Amino acid sequence: WAIHAPYVAAINALKRKRNATILAHNYMTPEIYHGIGDVVGDSLQLAIAATQTDADVIVQCGVHFMAETSKILNPGKTVLMPDMQAGCSLAESITPAGIAEMRARYPGAPVVTYVNTTADVKAASDICCTSANAVQIIRALDADTIIMTPDQYLAQNVAAQVPEKRIVWWEGSCIVHEQYTAQDIREFREWNPGTRIIAHPECPPDVVAESDFSGSTKGILDYVSAERPERAMLVTECSMASNISDAHPDVEFIGPCNMCPYMKKITLEKVLWSLHSMTTEITVPKDVADKARLAVQRMIDLGS
Ligand code: 13P
Ligand code: SF4
Repeated sequence: WAIHAPYVAAINALKRKRNATILAHNYMTPEIYHGIGDVVGDSLQLAIAATQTDADVIVQCGVHFMAETSKILNPGKTVLMPDMQAGCSLAESITPAGIAEMRARYPGAPVVTYVNTTADVKAASDICCTSANAVQIIRALDADTIIMTPDQYLAQNVAAQVPEKRIVWWEGSCIVHEQYTAQDIREFREWNPGTRIIAHPECPPDVVAESDFSGSTKGILDYVSAERPERAMLVTECSMASNISDAHPDVEFIGPCNMCPYMKKITLEKVLWSLHSMTTEITVPKDVADKARLAVQRMIDLGS
């Protein structure tokens, strides 16, 4: 922590001067999550926080699609991204042409798009979802066939919970969560009996089926807080366990984890530079933002 302290102090001072707020995702490194985040949470919590802030500037400590969502919800505010290379394999997997292709394949079916997408993909969709509210949103839609994009695994995990609906999906995936296999989980359980295994729903369905619980990053935190298992393996990005371990000293977090190279592009140095130079400012064309806002707002109204 000593090496981080000067950056944390400088960022927090500059944040007050700029009337800025820092929205930090659960996958940020602990020095960002604990040191400078004003709001920390999963994608849904950060999107809702973006609608409630009275700061003039939002610094998004997360990935690019999260900053776009904040801008879409706050067209009048300055939204800063400390590293524009912080992308997401899911967001890269689909374009508006992909949405049009799915609509042509399944005429009349509503399109539910994961927030892990670009603004123009959201604008081409009917409603957004996050991993925290996907089941709720699918259940609430008055349609027998529903298109889910772009995460095939989230779609399949939701389909398992809502068997009364036909869910069709795009073939995108998260490079972090797709790496886990059911065999990994079975072996881990065999070698570490009694460990609670908790998976993010971006994992393949057979991995989720082998786990004790599946939920968004907030869902994972809530589960650990409520259950207080002696030992837990979080089948998700590495920082998740690091960030929540301080508050849960009685839980031993064990097991392998996978790192998101995009999330890890955000560092204290880049956040400080971002606030100092007021770069890089996120912009979304008004026509795209207006349409995308409808899809995001519908999600917030229906699924929060
Ligand atoms: P959460 O909404 O669960 O925080 O997930 C976001 C994400 O990018 C997970 O990979
Ligand atoms: Fe995208 Fe996966 Fe990284 Fe989340 S963890 S930002 S879904 S690549």
